[in-house]
Amino acid sequence: MAHQWRGVIREYAERLPVTEATKVITLGEGGTPLVHAQQLSALTGSDVYLKVEGMNPTGSFKDRGMTMAMTAAVAAGAKAVVCASTGNTSASAAAYATAAGLKCVVLVPEGKISMGKLSQAIAHGATLLQVNGNFDDCLDIARKLGESYPVFLVNSVNPARIEGQKTGAFEVVDWLGDAPDFHVLPVGNAGNITAYWKGYKEYCAPFESATAGTLPAVSTRTPVMWGFQAAGAAPFVAGHPITEPDTIATAIRIGNPASWDTAIAARDESGGVIEAVTDEEILSAHRWLSAREGVFVEPGSAAGVAGLIKKHAAGEVPAGKTIVITVTGHGLKDPQWALRTEDGSEVQPVKVSNDVVTVAMALGLEEK
Ligand code: F0G
Repeated sequence: MAHQWRGVIREYAERLPVTEATKVITLGEGGTPLVHAQQLSALTGSDVYLKVEGMNPTGSFKDRGMTMAMTAAVAAGAKAVVCASTGNTSASAAAYATAAGLKCVVLVPEGKISMGKLSQAIAHGATLLQVNGNFDDCLDIARKLGESYPVFLVNSVNPARIEGQKTGAFEVVDWLGDAPDFHVLPVGNAGNITAYWKGYKEYCAPFESATAGTLPAVSTRTPVMWGFQAAGAAPFVAGHPITEPDTIATAIRIGNPASWDTAIAARDESGGVIEAVTDEEILSAHRWLSAREGVFVEPGSAAGVAGLIKKHAAGEVPAGKTIVITVTGHGLKDPQWALRTEDGSEVQPVKVSNDVVTVAMALGLEEK
């Protein structure tokens, strides 16, 4: 019988801080497709794969961490959870809190989150407050709320989130048979680059499981990590926090990443880089993915692809390698960008009358 995916906690229980007795909060996250990107592979001469995280239950990679964070919240006896978010974390927290029977409070930067994400948080019944500030201000308040009030913090500063998100690396290795040569991804608050690097390292060495003894190494190597930030919100490139981050890729509009040191460690231990791509490069990669690969992502999710294309143009992408790019969130989260042409004008669908001859003419078809 075909195997039904059971969510990341049950699939990887031996490598996560859970036991048989843990009450697992899951919506069946993980097990996302690793799509061979034919045009990016042709461009670079390497085998390029896309880890399509938009296929998670709420449409982003955040669900991998949220199943762990919400499971931890329930174990801790919490009644309410809180997070700051550029949108995806709030959508995920709201859905998983509903599944757990907990109240959920989300703090988002006013006017800077996409309609899709806003509607998810509202639909799942979260209490949503728009803060007159940016994501970094929201996270500051969320942390203080978690410290001084009876609400459980589910941002990625909570280590349970990183534990859940490291399963992305496990899945890549399980499906490729070994780690790729390069792993490429967008960097915002830097939880995901931290989590992937942790996952790759744990899979490449014997692992002391809390429940299953010593597990042998699964992979023979770890990848080089390449992270990409939006140019207007690139604190790792600047080498210091940015007070006024700005980019159309609202998901990664972050100036003071919480996981600073662990992102630097992932970059340096892996021999990798964290570089910047412009909004134009992000939108061009967004278009490339939808029009050439058949994969629809939100703009922030295209930053890794934009980075690969940029490095290829600079002659910095070796051929004959295996490259995995995490595309982090679904295109339907923020669909407006697909309705703009390259010169910025709005796409207007052609209107026709209700008649086959007119439709055929509009299509330039001649009768056979
Ligand atoms: N891509 C998307 C679609 C995101 O939503 C985020 C972060 C990132 C990439 C960056 O990941 O923060 O782990 O470096 N979104 C957070 C949120 C901040 O609130 O949804 P990161």
